[in-house]
Amino acid sequence: MAVTILGIESSCDDTSAAVVRDGLLLSNVMAGQEVHRRYGGVVPELASRAHQQHIVPVVDTALREAGVTVEELDAVAFTQGPGLLGSLLVGASFAKGLALARGIPLVAVNHLMGHVHALFLEGPEKSPSFPFLCLLVSGGHTQLMRVTAPLEMETLGKTIDDAAGEAFDKCAKMMDLPYPGGPVIDRLAAEGDAGRFRFAMPRVQGLDFSFSGLKTSFLYFLRDELKKDPLFVRNHLNDLAASLQATIVRILMEKLHEAVRRTGIRRVAIAGGVSANSALKETLIRTGEEEGWEVFVPRPRYTTDNAAMITMTGYFKYRKGLFAPQEITPRARMML
Ligand code: KG4
Ligand code: ZN
Repeated sequence: MAVTILGIESSCDDTSAAVVRDGLLLSNVMAGQEVHRRYGGVVPELASRAHQQHIVPVVDTALREAGVTVEELDAVAFTQGPGLLGSLLVGASFAKGLALARGIPLVAVNHLMGHVHALFLEGPEKSPSFPFLCLLVSGGHTQLMRVTAPLEMETLGKTIDDAAGEAFDKCAKMMDLPYPGGPVIDRLAAEGDAGRFRFAMPRVQGLDFSFSGLKTSFLYFLRDELKKDPLFVRNHLNDLAASLQATIVRILMEKLHEAVRRTGIRRVAIAGGVSANSALKETLIRTGEEEGWEVFVPRPRYTTDNAAMITMTGYFKYRKGLFAPQEITPRARMML
C-alpha cells in the first residue's frame, strides 16, 4: 500500500506545503511574504498573519499539483520547531485540525532534521548512503552532524554565537543591502575580488564555529574606511561581498576538513539556506574532487525553508510509527 503524506512548514516567513508518496516528492508549494522586506527582517506578528492567509490556498494547491485528494492522505506532518512561535502555531493548528478531521496520524518534525532530509528529495539513487557528514548552515543554525540513519543524527559541533546565515544577513545590513542578505552577497560577490580584503578568522577549538568575531571585524573595518571615504561601501560593494563570503566559506570548510579527519567519513553533505551559496558549493565540490570525498548538495529550491524536506522527515517518522499526540505544542527552541 502506498503511503501518502502531506507536510506543512511555517517556521519563519514562508508558508509551504508538500506531498510525498512512498518517499517520492509529488508537489512542493510555497508562498513567500513580501511584507518584511521594508523592515529589513522578519516581523513575527506580520508573519503569523500572513501564514493564516496563505495556509489554506497553499495546501489546496499542493494537493492539486500532486493529484491527491484529502481522503487519500495517510498522515499529516508539520514543523514543530525551532522557529517563530506564532508562525509555528498556524501550521501546527492546521495540521492538528486536518489529522483530527480525517482520523489520520499527526507527525511532528524538527525543522533542523528537515533540512538534512532535503538531501533525500532527488530519489534513492541520488541520496547519500550512511554514514555521512552534514554541515547544516541556515539563518538560525550552524552545526556539523554525523548522520548514521535517516532519523539518527549526532551533533559533532555547532556555533557558539551567530549562525553562518546570520553573519551574511548582519554584514549585509551594515552595507545597507536588503534582507535576507545571503543571496544578495552571493550575487554581488560573483563580480568581486575575494582576495581584496581580509577579515579576522575565529580561533575556536574542535568542531565548533564562531561568527561574531567576523561580524565585529567587518563592522570596525567598514567604520574606519567610511571615515576616510563616505562612499567606500558603494565603491567596493562587489569586493566587500566577495571577501566576506570567502571568509565565511573558509571558516565552514576548515571545520568540514577537521570533521573528515576526525571521523574518517568521506561522504560530505551541506544543507540549509546557506548551502545555496555558490562559493560554498563550488569550494565543496572542488575539495571533493581533490580529496576524494563523495559530495552532496541539495538543489537550491530545497535549501531554504520548504515543506518538501519537512514532509520527507514526516515520511521517515511515519515508517517508524513515530506519531504525535493532539496535545503537542510547537517549540520556538529545539535541538537536534
Ligand atoms: O534555512 P533557511 O531558509 O532558514 C532558516 O532555517 O534559518 O536559511 C535562511 C538563511 C538566511 O540567512 C539567508 O541569508 C541564507 O540562508 N541564504 C544564503 C543564500 N541563500 C540563502 N546565504 C548565502 N548565500 C546564498 N545564496
Ligand atoms: Zn530553515
